[in-house]
Parts: sequence; structure tokens; C-alpha cells
Amino acid sequence: MTQTFSLTMEATDGKARTGIIRTPRGEIRTPAFMPVGTAGTVKAMLPESVRATGADILLGNTYHLMLRPTAERIARLGGLHKFMNWDRPILTDSGGFQVMSLAALRKLTEEGVRFSSHIDGSKHMLSPERSMEIQRLLGSDIVMCFDECPALPASIETVADSMRLSMRWAERSKAAFGDRPGHALFGIQQGGVTQDLRAESAEALRAIGFDGYAVGGLAVGEGQEAMFGVLDYAPDMLPADKPRYLMGVGKPDDIVGAVERGIDMMDCVLPSRSGRTGQAWTRRGQVNIKNARHMDDPRPLDEHCTCPACRSYSRAYLHHVFRAGEMISGMLLTWHNLHYYQELMQGLRDAIAGARLRDFVRDFHALRAEGDI
Ligand code: GUN
Ligand code: ZN
Repeated sequence: MTQTFSLTMEATDGKARTGIIRTPRGEIRTPAFMPVGTAGTVKAMLPESVRATGADILLGNTYHLMLRPTAERIARLGGLHKFMNWDRPILTDSGGFQVMSLAALRKLTEEGVRFSSHIDGSKHMLSPERSMEIQRLLGSDIVMCFDECPALPASIETVADSMRLSMRWAERSKAAFGDRPGHALFGIQQGGVTQDLRAESAEALRAIGFDGYAVGGLAVGEGQEAMFGVLDYAPDMLPADKPRYLMGVGKPDDIVGAVERGIDMMDCVLPSRSGRTGQAWTRRGQVNIKNARHMDDPRPLDEHCTCPACRSYSRAYLHHVFRAGEMISGMLLTWHNLHYYQELMQGLRDAIAGARLRDFVRDFHALRAEGDI
């Protein structure tokens, strides 16, 4: 029998939850952080190294992969898991959000979005139906509805019209997705920072019925306070027995605040991208390895971290290879950052399971307030 997709909730602490999402490709421990593998790779990392950091699932992007190397080519080569050598779960974003932020000459209609590639200017179309087809060709385990998300600040009318279009697209996404045992389709709540619109969007999604529900349209320029304001009510509008995924978030303190408010899954380019620009994230906050103060420092980035960068290299070395433009710089800092993020998630899961999340969050903020050593 094909194992189907399921969420088992194991413990709650306040609004925070910990549990396990079971898929035919393996389990996802929640709250989960998903490293971003936009173009079929988590940049600067081998898949086995990503797994070694503790990741249970990766995120891939419809938009990038449809342009290069194309979904049809990946399907002919056996699907995205085989192509990129990652046999665990993959969630794919649907492309709508990336089209609006990356593509040129976008034309948005009821049907979908026509756009020109940011790579070579070639013309393409994405619609709910085409996005579902691409995500099926990729072999994605968790498929996201095709949606649209306005940059904030935007007028209430703009946000409302956009949200209602996304809800009509959610219905078309569900119809086009069809019945695929072992694969999940997640709806995406929109509605900006307006509670009534968030409620209307949640109601529309619940009426259609999904395997999981994302909170979309956040971390698009509204700031942490406004985002937490929405997260104070938005997760409660979504079914408690299904995964809740906050898209594109975030910094470590965003993640902690989101988990406290009932979020189960998150993704962000931050740990991998900032690793390539010389930024490290530690229990004591952000460290800029470019800074000259590290030049003669024989100590590791974080003496308590067990990642390869911290076990075997000094700050002086990490500073040197960054300054010299050596590739190992991005490799080591990305590994460290992903390791830190996954350790944070494990800490959150353990704290929720032990009903001591409040203490965990207090210690998290206290250590960051002390700053880097
Ligand atoms: N990534 C970050 N935010 C969003 C969103 O609102 N929609 C989609 N599809 N992806 C996102
Ligand atoms: Zn480390």
C-alpha cells in the first residue's frame, strides 16, 4: 500500500507544536527548517552534507527549474530527487512569487502570468494548471498552489483583489493537482496585514481542502513587528490537524517567534546566501567574518558548535579564505549556518516536547543580547 502523507502531533506548548510529517520519502520532524535548493542544489553543499546538518526536507523552485534545465528534461532524467541526488522529501514553490520578484515584462491576467526569463529573455507562461504540471514533472512531494503576492505596503484594495485571485487560482490548482496518493498539495493564505482578508483567505482555502496550509505574503517588507502581528492570529485560522508553513522566513529570531505562534515549517535562503557573503549566524547573533578583528583570532566561530567549520578551523582561517575569495569560504560558512539553523530547530522541538519553550526562548534572547565573543 502506498504510504500516504500524514501529520502526527506529538506535543504542544502554548501555541507551539511539535510532531512528525510522514511521507513515502521519509519523515519530517516539525517545527522544520527547509534549506533552499533553488536550482537543484543547496549552493556550496553536497546533499549528504545538507542531510548531515539535520535537514529532513529541501525546497526547490518551479520558476528556476522550468527555465533551466526545464521540468521536461528533469522528468526525462528521472525526476528532481534523482537529478540532484536527494532522496528525501522535496517541497517545491509554485513559481508565482518568484515570477513577480525576478522575471521581466510580467503580464498578470485571470489565466496566469506571462513573463520573460531573467536568464535569457525567453517568453513563458505560468498558470495554476502549468505550475501543477511542472511540479508533477519534477516529482515534488509537497506541491504549492499557484498564487500571487503583492509587495507591501500596498492598498487594501490591491491586497484584497490579489488575495481573491490567489483563492480562485487555489481552486484551479486543486482541480489540476488531482488525486496523487503520497503527494501533498498545500494552499497558501494571503491577505497582507489585514485580519479580515486573512480570515476570508483561510475560509476559502478550508472550503477547498488541502493537505497543509501556508501563510504567504509575509516577510515582504512589513517588518518583524507587523509580521508577528499577523502571526498572532493567522495560524489559528488554519486547521490545527494539518501542517502550517510560513513561507520565506527567516532570521533566527523570526523563526523562534513564528514557532511560538504555531508555525510548523519554514524556509529561507538566509543561512545559505549569507554564508556566501561572509555572514555567520551563531547562538550569540550575527558574525561578520570579513571584519579585521578576526584576522589573528585562533578561536573557532562558536566553541560549542560541532560543524566542520567550527571543529577544524579558526576565525583567522575563515577570515583569510573569505578575503582571498576561496570557494571553501562559502562551503564552510554555509555548512555552519545550516548546522546552526537545524540545531535551533532541534532545540525548539525538544523544548516544546519538554514543555519548557518559554525558558528556551528566554535563554535564546539572553545569549544573543550578550553578543559575539
Ligand atoms: N515565498 C515567500 N512568500 C511567498 C508567497 O506568498 N507565495 C509563494 N508562492 N511563495 C512565497
Ligand atoms: Zn559551526
